[in-house]
Amino acid sequence: MGRAFAYVILGGGVAAGYAALELVRHGDGVSPGELCIISDEAVAPYERPALSKGYLLPRGAARLPAFHTCVGANDELLTEQWYKDHGIELVLGTRVVSADVRRKTLLTATGETISYKTLIVATGARALELEEFGVTRSDATNVCYLRSLEDADKMVGVMRSCHGGNAVVIGGGYIGMECAAALVANEIKVAMVFPRKHCMDRLFTPKIAEFYENYYAAKGVTFIKEARVTSFETSSDGKVTGAILRDGRRLPADMVVVGIGARANTELFDGQLAMEKGGIKVNGRMQTSDAAVYAVGDVAAFPVALLSGDMRRFEHVDCARRTARRAVAAIMERSDGAEERGEMGFDYLPFFYSRVFALSWQFYGDNVGEPVHFGDFSAPAGGRPKFGACWVSGGLVAGVFLEGGSREENEAVASAVRCRARIGDVAAELESRGLAFADQE
Ligand code: FDA
Ligand code: NAD
Repeated sequence: MGRAFAYVILGGGVAAGYAALELVRHGDGVSPGELCIISDEAVAPYERPALSKGYLLPRGAARLPAFHTCVGANDELLTEQWYKDHGIELVLGTRVVSADVRRKTLLTATGETISYKTLIVATGARALELEEFGVTRSDATNVCYLRSLEDADKMVGVMRSCHGGNAVVIGGGYIGMECAAALVANEIKVAMVFPRKHCMDRLFTPKIAEFYENYYAAKGVTFIKEARVTSFETSSDGKVTGAILRDGRRLPADMVVVGIGARANTELFDGQLAMEKGGIKVNGRMQTSDAAVYAVGDVAAFPVALLSGDMRRFEHVDCARRTARRAVAAIMERSDGAEERGEMGFDYLPFFYSRVFALSWQFYGDNVGEPVHFGDFSAPAGGRPKFGACWVSGGLVAGVFLEGGSREENEAVASAVRCRARIGDVAAELESRGLAFADQE
């Protein structure tokens, strides 16, 4: 059995939702019956960042349909009805098990062959599992990962049964930091274990990390750094009761949350499409090595014009939204100019953010060069801290991290990074002018 569509989006996450909206809006838009989205999740595309924030709140938690795409960009809420109304075939709960780019077909786990004229690959990434590091029992009923709505539902259930108990969080990255904050809000004591010298070490400087670690410690979180969990202790009913560290220490555990990194879902295209940076290689139009196939979001590695055409792959929501829009614009406006061929790279300003407790930070650009800190790193009692770091490379602003910035300040920072503002005597300038460096054009 088989069906044929002009456009198929493979994957039903953030990038898929934004691509669908853009396809409908663009020019004449897609006609009913032309677009199909295939997702192994059971629900229509949603804003994944909500899973580690609003979804885990003990009171007033966010629930679907409130956070379907594209509300995260203050745009239309695309419920399942929206897809029906636009004649978009939403094939949910269905995994694609193989792809043939030569024949332009996808085979689903239900045995259906779906063919396309143009394919947008939006398969995102999946959580790395402890088993990859030789630790078993990821399947225990109180061990939680957090990538999908299903994972989030499991975590909510486990947190409810652990009130007042102990959680071991494995990993000191985004998932670790955001889940630790959610666990504290749910009145669960947290011990965080990770192998590095400080949390969020791919982005935070030691000084920035120190601020967040002190802030978390004041909320009762214990950091166990430069350490690894090597095994779990389990009860007769298969629950994890303790985590054993490499040095033999035992941490009591009523639940475990694992956030040890992600891997892009590229396997369907191994040997068929060019790969780079652990993802599918695309040009500045998001077009892969096969002209009929585009890749967007976490799975796509693309040349970033602002970074001199450097190939990068980002695992952040802003990138998923913007690459999805870029791919659709490219698909709809086929042209032969150099820019349209994607040779110039995609005009994208890298942007990451997180919100935990009463804190909120944003980062723009690239954390290369020398970081110069500015602002007040003490957490004022009752007040909001405001501080940051500016990475300077060759006298130019390469990237800026800002905690506690207002909308205007964040916008000013973004434009300073975008125009690669020049900074003379950086240390003196930042010290005396603080964020004012961002005002120069
Ligand atoms: P995404 O993972 O959203 O979607 C991929 C889709 O493809 C999924 O529906 C998946 O099931 C499906 N799929 C994969 N293989 C398939 C197959 N073979 N067949 C069928 N379907 C398949 N970023 C940020 O900037 N700020 C933030 O605060 C957060 N917060 C955050 C919280 C949590 C809990 C997570 C897990 C992630 C974030 N992120 C984030 C990262 C952000 O959510 C991420 O970058 C985007 O979701 C990427 O969007 P994609 O559409 O590329 O992948
Ligand atoms: P991450 O790469 O941010 O952090 C992984 C952490 O695990 C690091 O601290 C690393 O040192 C540690 N680690 C690695 N191997 C380990 C091991 N064997 N034992 C213990 N610790 C180990 O990845 P993540 O936090 O798992 O996030 C997963 C994905 O979700 C990423 O793509 C991330 O970008 C995305 N995400 C983003 C946000 C955001 O942008 N605010 C929020 C949540 C999730």
